Amino acid sequence: MAKKVTKAIFPVAGLGTRFLPATKSVPKEIMTLVDRPLVQYAIDEARAAGIKEFIFVTSRGKGALEDYFDHSPVLEQELRSKGKTELMEILKSTNMDSGAIAYIRQHKALGLGHAVWCARRLIGNEPFAVMLPDDVIAADKPCLQQMIEAYNETGGNMVAAMEVDPEKSSSYGMLDIDEGQTDGELVKVKGMVEKPKAEDAPSNLAVIGRYILSPNVLKNLNQLKSGSGGEIQLTDAIAAELTQGNDVYGYRFKGQRFDCGSKSGFLQATVSFGLAREELRDDLRAYLQDIMQGETAAQ
Ligand code: UTP
Repeated sequence: MAKKVTKAIFPVAGLGTRFLPATKSVPKEIMTLVDRPLVQYAIDEARAAGIKEFIFVTSRGKGALEDYFDHSPVLEQELRSKGKTELMEILKSTNMDSGAIAYIRQHKALGLGHAVWCARRLIGNEPFAVMLPDDVIAADKPCLQQMIEAYNETGGNMVAAMEVDPEKSSSYGMLDIDEGQTDGELVKVKGMVEKPKAEDAPSNLAVIGRYILSPNVLKNLNQLKSGSGGEIQLTDAIAAELTQGNDVYGYRFKGQRFDCGSKSGFLQATVSFGLAREELRDDLRAYLQDIMQGETAAQ
């Protein structure tokens, strides 16, 4: 029986250059989809999956992120005195139990693998999840919960996997899988390649920002740290598990993933999450229909 996963690492130390100039002073993870910052979606997903300890790997300029999870006595008092109980309920989801959240600094943006490695002392010898808040996943059952349920059966390591257009392989870690695993949620991974060209991609299954990893991956990162000068890739440390004879599974989750680290993905998510909200749906839909008709007429 696999050991329970109760800790999650949120690497949020990247520079977010694709969103400059906004990210000069606003952390990317605080940017909002409708009315909630990206990081709130990730925290809600982690909570639904049974995560109890939330470890953020941050960097200079991410103060707004730390403040976001603090209690706000003045605001709370103001809402209470005005009887705004609904808003007070909404605020509750941003509060964390004392001691449940930890912040570790990554002093230099040396890559995702390095960011995860920075949290090693808080993980110890337990399996853990890694969640990238840039990847927002709309799903009936939250993606990490789907994965943890599968992981409880398999153990080993597990990465969220999604089919992508081969032309896009150079933006992802791509999975090498055994023949004939064309359907079903779980796939056994033989190898992993970071950002290959379309012609070198071993399959069309890409890794996206949800992982369940064995603590051994942190040891592998240790090795990479001493050996590598450039960015330290999480993919390499997971691939090292395979050469050591440990299992890695890809999990084809059910749901729609939005790459909110890119402008186009962020805009698509904004529209989609807006349409999913009852109080916004009619207005937004009417507006979208209007502008689409305008575009068609102009062509
Ligand atoms: P990205 O590749 O999206 O990089 O990182 P970025 O810096 O956030 O954004 P761009 O490309 O400059 O626009 C994927 C995830 O890994 C984290 C990021 O914060 C993001 O959650 N990361 C990346 C780190 O924590 N540290 C790093 O050194 C690199």
